[in-house]
Amino acid sequence: MKVTVVGAGAVGATCADNIARKELVEELVLVDIKEGFAEGKALDIMQTSSLLGFDTRVIGVTNDYAKTANSDVVVITSGIPRKPGMTREELIGTNARIVETVCKNLLEYSPNAIVVVISNPMDTMTYLALKSTGLPKNRIIGMGGILDSARFKTYLQKSLNCSQGDLHATVIGGHGDTTMIPLTRLATLNGTPVSNMLDADQLKQVAADTMVGGATLTKLLGTSAWYAPGAAGAALVESIIRNERKVFPCCVYLEGEYGQNDICLGVPVVIGKNGWESIIDYKLNEEEQAAFNKSADAVRNMNAVLDTLVA
Ligand code: 2OP
Repeated sequence: MKVTVVGAGAVGATCADNIARKELVEELVLVDIKEGFAEGKALDIMQTSSLLGFDTRVIGVTNDYAKTANSDVVVITSGIPRKPGMTREELIGTNARIVETVCKNLLEYSPNAIVVVISNPMDTMTYLALKSTGLPKNRIIGMGGILDSARFKTYLQKSLNCSQGDLHATVIGGHGDTTMIPLTRLATLNGTPVSNMLDADQLKQVAADTMVGGATLTKLLGTSAWYAPGAAGAALVESIIRNERKVFPCCVYLEGEYGQNDICLGVPVVIGKNGWESIIDYKLNEEEQAAFNKSADAVRNMNAVLDTLVA
């Protein structure tokens, strides 16, 4: 099996590092546009192999898509990251052109690949990847919800002082500070609703912290985060490569599910060897559905900007 990660910046390199450590594939190709950069990151990762004990072969290339040929999964992290005070949405102009070109280059050599999109604004970039490639919808997956749910679980874990493995918690909707929806009603600790242990104010705070999870890190780091985004990308790739059929909230194309059409938005999906295999209906209550609809409106407005850019 073979995976390509495009973009050897902090998120792409961390994602590649996680995939290599997990030994998900025999060959991992890291691509970047900056001369020598992916080669350097790949070599650095390879030099950890005897220390960490993995046999994945990591190869770095400068824009040489022929080397990515016959990848089973391709992960797109390319584009500019957020700076403090910036929203993910402000990146659209630059990143749309990059994502469209990268998709074209990748599919020329790996026409059967499953495409994972991490570049921001992630919901719109996933929609763009789908529309510009014309691939079957199940092969285009935006990663944001896995990352947002991991952040949600981190804030729950801190409030509950519990083990992360006992938590089930999901963020749906858009991957934006105001568009994501942490489903506090459905979050559980070992099957027990967390609302039995945290009061309404505490839950509200956890949800609020989750929603600005990325912005908090951008402010602290001066650029956007990479450990959790990279690990979330690798978890998604793992479920595809190993056909784990894990349920992850991912950004996928909706055709009536959750009351929405012609949009890519975060919903719980089964992830396996064919990409996203089915959508799970969490049966949202009225308030959650209203938040989901509002999120869809915001993402749809963002998608409309694409027509002015990529025409
Ligand atoms: C984040 O939320 C990079 O979108 C990513 O950190």
